[in-house]
Amino acid sequence: MDGIVSPASVSASPAADDTVIRCLGLTRRFGALAAVDHLDLSVARGEIFALVGPDGAGKTTLIRMLCGALTPTEGTAVVVGADVARDPEAVKARIGYMPQRFSLYGDLSVMENLQLYGDIYGVGRTAFREQAARLLTDFRLDAFTGRPAQQLSGGMKQKLALACTLIHAPDALFLDEPTTGVDPVSRRQFWRYLYSLNRDGITIFVSTPYMDEAERASRVGLMNRGRLIASNDPGALKASMQGEILEIIAEPKAAAKQALRGHALVRSLEVFGDRLHVLVDSADRAEPELRRALLSGGVQVQSMRRAVPSLEDVFVSRLARVV
Ligand SMILES: Nc1ncnc2c1ncn2[C@@H]1O[C@H](COP(=O)(O)OP(=O)(O)O)[C@@H](O)[C@H]1O
Ligand SMILES: [Mg+2]
Repeated sequence: MDGIVSPASVSASPAADDTVIRCLGLTRRFGALAAVDHLDLSVARGEIFALVGPDGAGKTTLIRMLCGALTPTEGTAVVVGADVARDPEAVKARIGYMPQRFSLYGDLSVMENLQLYGDIYGVGRTAFREQAARLLTDFRLDAFTGRPAQQLSGGMKQKLALACTLIHAPDALFLDEPTTGVDPVSRRQFWRYLYSLNRDGITIFVSTPYMDEAERASRVGLMNRGRLIASNDPGALKASMQGEILEIIAEPKAAAKQALRGHALVRSLEVFGDRLHVLVDSADRAEPELRRALLSGGVQVQSMRRAVPSLEDVFVSRLARVV
């Protein structure tokens, strides 16, 4: 097969098939550890796929393999029509990759940073001029082209990093925790840009520790210990949750947590501001028992009600089952 597929037909294949990412049994080991463990996944053109999961789940390792930056140990991944192991350069040419620690050159100006990435990707002069002008306008960086990157605000650095990854007009964008440590206002703005890129036809694969961001994706994948343990649109994931959530407001909170943590009916406990979210098999059955336990722990219950699960609840419940 390999010998028959010419480079031209490889690059043409995504048009015939709307799958932008397809992994089969994708695995990466580091010594004895399977950081990514026989992972199957398909992402279609036009999706915004959010990857969430605890630290060490394998998100970065997966993204690096999909971007042709790390060779799989086993299994295959075809991204934008090219095999990541056999033809990583073809993958790199047609995707944008913003690693977890994206490096801008601090002493270079905004325009010089863009130029540098344009050169790395071999963007021609005319194409560079057009794309740079468009990105600078879209990201409202056009007034700062001469400013050294190190003198930009955090939000602006983020936008410049995104612009650099887009300079070669890629079909798909891979972002590894692009908004970690960015303030909430800039995070929202960053997502507005992602949406607008997506409307322009760019497929987006993004890892994030923030559930509110995952809620905005067309599909969410939960990764744990190298495996994808759930993958669906946010609404369907919530509908599929096993167990029920009791939302409790009680004082003092520390005593409430203590009384609930060890309770036989409590499968997990999460704190959301002043509310406690308790995962139980049956809210009706648990409520009177938990009230009793809280009272005897000296806790005053202000309210206890069944809550619509959040995406965070779904993940906590899924992780509670596999750990
Ligand atoms: N280059 C490496 N060498 C050895 N172990 C690694 C390497 N990269 C990642 N790992 C391990 O693989 C696991 C997954 O890491 P990573 O993909 O960075 O997870 P995440 O991005 O979800 O936090 C972790 O246990 C990590 O320590
Ligand atoms: Mg990571």
